[in-house]
Formats: sequence, C-alpha cells, structure tokens
Amino acid sequence: MDVSEAIRNRYSCRHYRDKPLEQNHLTAVLEAARQAPSAKNLQDWRFVVVTDKQTKKRLAAAANNQTFLEEAGAIVVACTVSDHVMRCGQGVGPIDVAIALEHMCLQATELGLATCWIGSFYADKVRSIVGIPDNIVVIELLALGYPADAPKEHRREALDRIVSFEKWQF
Ligand SMILES: Cc1cc2nc3c(=O)[nH]c(=O)nc-3n(C[C@H](O)[C@H](O)[C@H](O)COP(=O)(O)O)c2cc1C
Repeated sequence: MDVSEAIRNRYSCRHYRDKPLEQNHLTAVLEAARQAPSAKNLQDWRFVVVTDKQTKKRLAAAANNQTFLEEAGAIVVACTVSDHVMRCGQGVGPIDVAIALEHMCLQATELGLATCWIGSFYADKVRSIVGIPDNIVVIELLALGYPADAPKEHRREALDRIVSFEKWQF
C-alpha cells in the first residue's frame, strides 16, 4: 500500500476484533511515531500503550463511556513533555503529538489495523489511571486494533472551500 492509499483507506474505527495486537505490528506503528517530525526535533511525545483489559475498561469510562475503546487491542495515551511555545505563538506539544499520532494511523492502515483518535476524555481521570505525573500534558488517546467494521465514505469539504491561492479569499 502506498501513502496515498493509506491516506484514503484510514478511517475512524469504532468496532474492533477481539484479537491481541501482534508484537511486530505494534512495534511498526510505534516506530512510525518515532520517525515523525517535531519542532526543534524535540521529540517531546511520550506514549503509554495500554493493553490490559481492566485498564482499557477504565480508560473507556474516562473517555465519556466510549465503550468501543475496550475492544481495541491497545489504547495509546499520547502525552507531551514540552511546554515550549514557538515564535508563532503555538505550543509545540499538541502539534508534535498530533503528527506522530497520524503517522501511527497511516502505518496501522498499511498493516491492516485501524485506529480512532479520541479527544473526548477527562484528562485528570486518564492521568490517574495510568499514573501520569501532574506536570505532563495528556494530549489525545488513540484506539488501535484489528477492525471489525468497514470504512465509511469520508465526508469532506471540496478543495476550493478550504484552499485559496495567494490571498485569503474565503
Ligand atoms: C482530534 C480528534 C479527536 C477525535 N475524538 C474522537 C472521539 O473522542 N471519539 C470518536 O469516536 N471519534 C473521535 N475523532 C474521530 C473524528 O470524529 C473523525 O476523524 C471524523 O469524523 C472524520 O472521520 P474519519 O476519521 O472516519 O475520516 C476524533 C478525531 C480527531 C482528529
């Protein structure tokens, strides 16, 4: 599968097979995150990979009871250890972590796995479930596993709604 195929095939999977992740698949997905770019090459992401059933259940509850999370082979708790703010005014943490997560999603897609970004969660609850210190920011969760559903058609705006050339013309 080439990159454009992986981009087209990736979707938010909300139903997973009851199958543990193969170690080589998990390693490849994590490696894809490790290869991501980051501001100043800070590599400020940290990932806690949760595969334990009971812990996944607790994380699903902390994610506003999105129970499909329990089905995923792993829930990745993605954090940043940086509070660096770039000259442009944006904090690097969420950006760096987001890029790494999407690398994971695309690599997972190529391997026949599926993912779902999870932003609807209570960070303090997640923090206490997996023992994340107070000074570390939890950015997102990512469900990762073998899909038991099928991709739906992506609903996306037309290019001319989201892109203008040379000047802001929206
Ligand atoms: C930052 C972010 C947070 C998200 N949070 C959730 C979530 O908490 N629960 C969920 O089911 N989907 C979540 N999603 C998935 C989006 O709903 C999904 O990407 C969007 O509807 C487009 O569908 P697609 O991913 O299948 O193309 C999130 C996606 C992103 C990028």
